Amino acid sequence: MKTILLLGAPGAGKGTVAARLAATTPYRHVSTGDMLREAVKAGSPVGLEARAFMERGDLVPDEVILRIVRERIEREGASGAYMFDGFPRTRAQADGLDAMLASFGAKLNGVFLLVVPREVLISRIAGRRVCRQCGAVYHVVNMPTRVEGVCDRCGGPTYQRPDDNEATVANRLDVYERQTRELIDLYRARGILHEVDAAGSPEATRDRIAQVLAAWV
Ligand code: AP5
Repeated sequence: MKTILLLGAPGAGKGTVAARLAATTPYRHVSTGDMLREAVKAGSPVGLEARAFMERGDLVPDEVILRIVRERIEREGASGAYMFDGFPRTRAQADGLDAMLASFGAKLNGVFLLVVPREVLISRIAGRRVCRQCGAVYHVVNMPTRVEGVCDRCGGPTYQRPDDNEATVANRLDVYERQTRELIDLYRARGILHEVDAAGSPEATRDRIAQVLAAWV
């Protein structure tokens, strides 16, 4: 099993780049944010527990996150290649991931830090629209749908995420600084961190990462 993760502030483009990499590489995209939004939509026990944290822009408790990630990997047979997006986000999650991977006889192979200036993050988040049906991600200016409000891929309605309002975004950026940024030093010290300029197009970012992945084989 090979494992990589995409690290970066809210709005850095992790989900957008992960979707493009998943289409062109064997890495399966695992987004804890998407898994939690699905759980909220389904009204499952995890969704009921996570909802208030997400609405505030706070992190969902580590044990919930580690449990849903392990369940997902086990369900899929713990084989092949995985690409985590938005996970881990705390030191406890990073340690939990190491232990989990070790229990599958695997380890973390690489971490890609998407580097984007703060003002770009904010304008990306402010214009984001997501398909309610299939989860495809758009931007009203950078990546608009062909018909306003209608997903190009499945025809479903697009919407603005409830946590993409100004106050919650400010808290999410703050939470990233306080709880997630320290992971950069952790992975740099291990020699597995790759910093990627992600201010350009999603394709340019995807290609930079794909180049590193191709060199591993
Ligand atoms: P999550 O869904 O993971 O949100 P996030 O980390 O805040 O990241 P975003 O989804 O906002 O941004 P992104 O980097 O994926 O950017 P995107 O590709 O969409 O988490 C949401 C919440 O769930 C958290 O606040 C927390 O409560 C909870 N949670 C999730 N994981 C957790 C965990 N591990 N532990 C605890 N709690 C957890 O792009 C953004 C916009 O920019 C889009 O409109 C896109 O079209 C546009 N765009 C992207 N790339 C480009 C580009 N290159 N050029 C132009 N526009 C671009």
